[in-house]
Amino acid sequence: TKKIILDTDPGIDDAMAILFAEGHAAVDLIGITTIFGNATIENSTCNALYLKQKYGMKADVSMGADKPLLRPPVGPTTTVHGETGFGELQVNAADVKLSADPRPAWQYIVEQLKAQPGEITLVAVGPLTNLALALQHEPGITKLVKEVVVMGGAFGVNGHQGNVSPFAEANIHDDPEAADIVFTADWPVVIIGLDVTHESFFTPEYLDKLRDEAGEPGRFIHQISRFYLDFYQRSLGISGCHVHDPSAIAYVIDPSLFTLRKGPVRVVCSGPAIGHTMQKTYERRHPHDDWSDMPAQSVGVGVRDEALLELYRNTLI
Ligand code: BDR
Ligand code: CA
Repeated sequence: TKKIILDTDPGIDDAMAILFAEGHAAVDLIGITTIFGNATIENSTCNALYLKQKYGMKADVSMGADKPLLRPPVGPTTTVHGETGFGELQVNAADVKLSADPRPAWQYIVEQLKAQPGEITLVAVGPLTNLALALQHEPGITKLVKEVVVMGGAFGVNGHQGNVSPFAEANIHDDPEAADIVFTADWPVVIIGLDVTHESFFTPEYLDKLRDEAGEPGRFIHQISRFYLDFYQRSLGISGCHVHDPSAIAYVIDPSLFTLRKGPVRVVCSGPAIGHTMQKTYERRHPHDDWSDMPAQSVGVGVRDEALLELYRNTLI
């Protein structure tokens, strides 16, 4: 089994990813660290604790950053994920009896990596602030992690460029400086961005089947996805939603679902393309070159979407 810490902003597709990780025998979900993004940090943490309580999960929950590394706070994405992150469902904080680990997320990450060197995969499916803070506090963690898997970014493969601006994906746009730190650190990063997540869909029929056949988790996923489907229908004219965050978990379980491309990755941190992710995929040194000495990271450029959907369904049902 692979031990993972999931850094997440639950979030509808984040909840889908959490239940996927919890449900698959090849994954040992040891910790959930929360981040602002789809909801405020208070709501994303409350939502994570709610899932832990509801499903009797053993994972620690540790609260992360409430704002980007250098920039002012960004508001929650209420049009996509609802007022508090779970669509129409508003978790009542008074019903959540569990409390978060006393350590902030960055510290939790550092201490777990130190305690279990080479054992833990970090999976990040929200803005990358907690990971950047962990790197800033303890640069040595680059040698302790097994792998870093990120859902975020868009590299223009298959025509997919952005979802919150023409050239930026939400998780990276919400904290571009943090993402640039994470992608240029000397540790192995796999980036599962819109290039692949926009290639796979949970259709209404697929989600109905989960409701009918995947027990309580299936009914819960169905319930919170109503709002998400409405958003896709209203704003994109699509019947179905993209499989964003669960794709990062799918990669951990079965890397062969994805085709990867190697090369250094950087993030645009100002101007009209802020939050844009780019990968250098050819050999040549330029006069102005702060890329060539960066570590080569892996970017997802292809996905076997039918197999991914089947893996998700078989895990939940
Ligand atoms: C990403 O942004 C969030 O809305 C989703 O949870 C996902 O992590 C997709 O761009
Ligand atoms: Ca997310």
